[in-house]
Amino acid sequence: MTDSTIASAAGATPAALPRKKLFIRTFGCQMNEYDSQKMVEILAAATPGGLDKTERPEEADVILFNTCSVREKAQEKVFHDLGRVKDLKKLNPELLIGVGGCVASQEGAAIVERAPFVDMVFGPQTLHRLPELIAKRRESGRPQVDISFPEIEKFDRMPPARVEAASAFVSIMEGCSKYCSFCVVPYTRGEEVSRPFEDVLTEIAELAVKGVREVTLLGQNVNAYRGVMGRSGARGGEGAAVADLATLIEYIDEIPGIERIRYTTSHPREMTQALIDVYGRVPKLVSQLHLPVQHGSDRILAAMKRGYTALEYKSVIRRLRAVRPNLSLTSDFIVGFPGETAKDHELTMRLIDEVAFDGAFSFVYSARPGTPAADLADDTPAPEKSARLSQLQQRIDELFLDYSRAMIGRTERVLVEGVSRKSASELAGRTENNRVVNFAAGAHGERLIGQYVDVRFTEAAPHSLRGEMVVTD
Ligand code: SAM
Ligand code: F3S
Repeated sequence: MTDSTIASAAGATPAALPRKKLFIRTFGCQMNEYDSQKMVEILAAATPGGLDKTERPEEADVILFNTCSVREKAQEKVFHDLGRVKDLKKLNPELLIGVGGCVASQEGAAIVERAPFVDMVFGPQTLHRLPELIAKRRESGRPQVDISFPEIEKFDRMPPARVEAASAFVSIMEGCSKYCSFCVVPYTRGEEVSRPFEDVLTEIAELAVKGVREVTLLGQNVNAYRGVMGRSGARGGEGAAVADLATLIEYIDEIPGIERIRYTTSHPREMTQALIDVYGRVPKLVSQLHLPVQHGSDRILAAMKRGYTALEYKSVIRRLRAVRPNLSLTSDFIVGFPGETAKDHELTMRLIDEVAFDGAFSFVYSARPGTPAADLADDTPAPEKSARLSQLQQRIDELFLDYSRAMIGRTERVLVEGVSRKSASELAGRTENNRVVNFAAGAHGERLIGQYVDVRFTEAAPHSLRGEMVVTD
């Protein structure tokens, strides 16, 4: 995160009003990254003198922690970080400290009890109320806690997206109603709520006008999207038609300027045939899919309450590859779920080879208070779990490198994201399967940023590719 300046909604900055500084720290998933960006935009719009982001908490007027409680360490880290900024209030008594995200949602007022210097506690569904919470904090002199789930209000109250790059995230649904036995998300983010269909299309059309070429549709279970269609029924009138993700993608395909469509994260149970068929009809839908499987053993999948077997998962992949043979698949895995035996783990390793995943996020199971799995007996020793995780990660890394090597010699359109981190004379682009490729830009230089260019891949490093630009007349 670099320092950046965000103008106030009022346009020109009135001379008398001081600019404010915001320090924000984000933990966890892409949804949280997205929410943090929205917090910045909302506070900027509500700060008459303007707002600058800062990397230095000691110079901030507002400090926000956007927390995650999916795994243990992120949760502990929040209280640790709060302890580190506590004393800044002695230097600046006006300083406001806020805690948002899933830990806030779960702990609520308990955060203020444990850390009484915290001024605002808000959940993922009430982040748009930040300006009101700050105003009430100032008026009342008391910490404010709002972790309610006001359906859809959040989407309606967001300021228009600021465009900084050719690629943008668009949140299309919130929450999760799957209740996997290990996961806190349904409790912290609430049940699935989809944004109205036309609202999503309007936002994407506006982004395209501002130069966005690639959109990533975001949701905790994005393929469970069911958006009400039609302006009249937009707030859920009786009998209103509902669009699924497949329909939404076909409409986005028609928006001029949008050249690539991604979505994340999806659930295997929601990979309908209609959505699979869209891969056959919409080339703009990338040949990359993140489809968390979690495990390869049916016994563990059932205990996790995932709602599918390994065979059913493989059947989804087979049908997807029938319409998109070059589909790159990534996944999430949990190792060491309560009761997992060496045999169960073997089944996960077998599944990884059968599907040939091209990358994964993998985690050791962490018991989350309040979830059903937290009550299960867990007798696998921690070192055994770590060994299983290392084995899994090593295999995934090998497969990733195999895929990268297989790309050498191929030419692909890549979206140029910026100057390469490795060399200032090179550009960095992103491939369809989410790899960074560094290549010499020659005389064309930085004006290619935000454009698609053809790049031939020449070398595969463990985490990136090298290539050369192919210029066709
Ligand atoms: N919606 C996604 C899905 O369909 O699985 C998952 C979203 S979840 C926030 C992100 C990932 O965190 C999960 O896929 C899972 O692998 C991991 N995760 C969730 N709860 C966990 C826990 N209690 N222990 C370890 N990893 C966990
Ligand atoms: Fe969590 Fe399962 Fe939903 S992993 S986010 S409860 S699909």
